[in-house]
Amino acid sequence: MKTCLISGASQGIGESLAYLFAKSGYNVLLLARDGLKLETICSEINSGEGSAHFLPIDLTNAEEVLQKLPSFLDQFQPVNVLINNAGCGIFGPMEDFSLADYDRVMDLNLKASFLLTSLVLKGMKEERSGHVIAVASDVSKRTFARGSLYCASKYAQDALFSALRKEVRPFGIKVSVVYPGLTDTAFHPVKEPESVTKQWLTADQVAQAVLFIAEAPGQVVIDELMIHPLSQDY
Ligand SMILES: NC(=O)c1ccc[n+]([C@@H]2O[C@H](COP(=O)([O-])OP(=O)(O)OC[C@H]3O[C@@H](n4cnc5c(N)ncnc54)[C@H](OP(=O)(O)O)[C@@H]3O)[C@@H](O)[C@H]2O)c1
Repeated sequence: MKTCLISGASQGIGESLAYLFAKSGYNVLLLARDGLKLETICSEINSGEGSAHFLPIDLTNAEEVLQKLPSFLDQFQPVNVLINNAGCGIFGPMEDFSLADYDRVMDLNLKASFLLTSLVLKGMKEERSGHVIAVASDVSKRTFARGSLYCASKYAQDALFSALRKEVRPFGIKVSVVYPGLTDTAFHPVKEPESVTKQWLTADQVAQAVLFIAEAPGQVVIDELMIHPLSQDY
């Protein structure tokens, strides 16, 4: 059974990834802060045919990550697939952002991707196989007004994985980045009317795209995948 580590698995795209990858035969390891939600998801998966484990963790706290995650992962090595999905956004005029806002966005969207990936790469190199996937955003490739911090974090996350892709290909390790457009989750601070959000991507549709990438045959690597709702201009 392959093992898949998923960050930000307590809701939204990460929750969909947890159920879909478990249904597809992966042992899923779920990370997020909300342990109660993770426990509920794991119980549901484990009460069916699936296998799931969870670790409540604040991924913006590097000390906590370095202290808790290695011993958790040791029980399940090798991790075959890592999905760097946890992310957050903050939107508004730049002068309204505090240093704490800057740290929160960069620590989750960039630093946590770096930390989690660093922790699984050694095992993947030993296995000479593995797949690191990032759920980035279409704003890894374009910017918009009032999105300076979020766009910067997603551009940087994209660059991190683009360089890593070149670095680890000789070790048989795949690196893929998915760039979703508008997806109907609790990510959005302002709730749009249902008539609008029902035209957006669903979390399940984004998860399906990630599974498609993870399940590509051995010699095939889907480096990048941009996915939008038809209703969104791009
Ligand atoms: N929704 C969209 O329109 C959209 C579009 C493009 C890209 N994306 C990207 O897709 C990814 C998933 O977003 P989503 O829409 O599913 O958002 P979401 O519903 O807000 O889910 C975010 C997940 O990240 C976790 N998380 C947040 N802060 C955390 C922390 N400090 N430590 C650990 N986990 C943390 C949350 O769990 P806890 O609160 O339990 O920690 C939750 O499971 C993000 O990277 C986002 O940038 C989303």
